[in-house]
Amino acid sequence: MKTVAVVGTQWGDEGKGKIVDLLAEHADVVVRFQGGNNAAHTLVVDGEKFVLRLVPAGALHPGKTCVIGNGTVVNPFGLIEEIDGLKRRSRLRDDALLKLSYDAHIVMPYHLAIDRAREARLGKAAIGTTGFGIGPAYEDKMSRMGLRFADLLDFKDFTVRLKRNIAEKNLYLKAVLKAKPIDGKALVEAMKKARTRLMRYLCDTGVFLDGAIAQGKRVLFEGAHGTMLDIDHGTYPYVTSSSCIASAVFAGSGIGPGSLDGVLGISKAYTTRVGAGPFPSEIVGSLADAVREEGVEFGSATGRPRRIGWFDAVLARHAARVNGLWGLAITKLDVLSGIDPLKICVAYEIKGRRYDSMPPGRGALARAKPIFEEMPGWMDDLSAARSMDDLPTNVRRYLERISALTRVKLAMAGVGASRDAAIVIENPFLA
Ligand code: IMP
Ligand code: MG
Repeated sequence: MKTVAVVGTQWGDEGKGKIVDLLAEHADVVVRFQGGNNAAHTLVVDGEKFVLRLVPAGALHPGKTCVIGNGTVVNPFGLIEEIDGLKRRSRLRDDALLKLSYDAHIVMPYHLAIDRAREARLGKAAIGTTGFGIGPAYEDKMSRMGLRFADLLDFKDFTVRLKRNIAEKNLYLKAVLKAKPIDGKALVEAMKKARTRLMRYLCDTGVFLDGAIAQGKRVLFEGAHGTMLDIDHGTYPYVTSSSCIASAVFAGSGIGPGSLDGVLGISKAYTTRVGAGPFPSEIVGSLADAVREEGVEFGSATGRPRRIGWFDAVLARHAARVNGLWGLAITKLDVLSGIDPLKICVAYEIKGRRYDSMPPGRGALARAKPIFEEMPGWMDDLSAARSMDDLPTNVRRYLERISALTRVKLAMAGVGASRDAAIVIENPFLA
């Protein structure tokens, strides 16, 4: 396969960053197509830890082109900070290797202010957003008042539009949300500076990708968040404001469905979620604490402790369907070492009725009781395993059961945080 998408099958934080980093070695171009800096991919390369928010993971390999597609929403100040941080660590040295779509929407400080003020007002009913203004930025995109990077080409016209937006947002912030208004003058000045920094990266990324694909280049599409956070197919309203599934590749990068060869779904060997919302296979108490510690399950974007649960095959089947998965990568198997028995949620029960797929209706998932299957655990340290043969029988059985329950073949397995701590059964670029 020449063009491959990597998507999360759970609530984000499946370890996509590590798999993308691993596959980036075989790719020429790595593309972000949705979301913003609410995403955070943690990567460990040669013992060095990197957290990437907007820049695709290709940036950690020399010579790869990184594309931020039109479907994303980009905080210009966050992006500059991230670029500077990478440059300080001798990455992303060549500016020609980062391409930012003219049509990506700009996340403005008023989006952050609205996001945070709304969440504060909701109190207990809050979504638990990352607070990075992602929802309000996508709202403006849909309501057609959003500002895009292409608008920076004519800065005079941009300023008129920006001031109009600030005036409206400040009214809303003050009168409705009882929050502090934005300093419009300072924002115009800040945008002028950001423009000078970011103009060099602007590109018609759809045309660029089309050319790369026509030349037979290998392109990797890097999904952010996860299927259960998808605006349509996730646990609405406890979702993010973008489409996170494989079909978002097309609208979000400007190529057509015929140009994508396959989709690799990433799933943790267990489940986590940050923020509020239903979580049928959730574990509470000391076992959850132990997994959180062992798996370092704290949000890379916000530092919040992640909620922990057993592997949920209902979610995985849902993800397999909506993403049309070619294969699965199961990450963080090493974290389950020492837990015996293990449980897999195979279906849900609501009022005596069994559901093998998502139960319909608001609140249904919150009422769903997990139906578990038990599997024997393992005690072994898995971190040195590099092939299926290196894995204890019970690990292989666990993986085979997941593959059977989801009807998706196993392509990779993760056994540790570092770049090489993985088992590659079938590399999609070599398939
Ligand atoms: P927002 O994307 O900041 O609007 O947050 C909406 C929901 O998505 C919240 O529950 C967040 O915790 C969750 N979320 C957004 N991005 C990520 C991610 O990259 N990993 C995990 N959860 C995320
Ligand atoms: Mg993350």
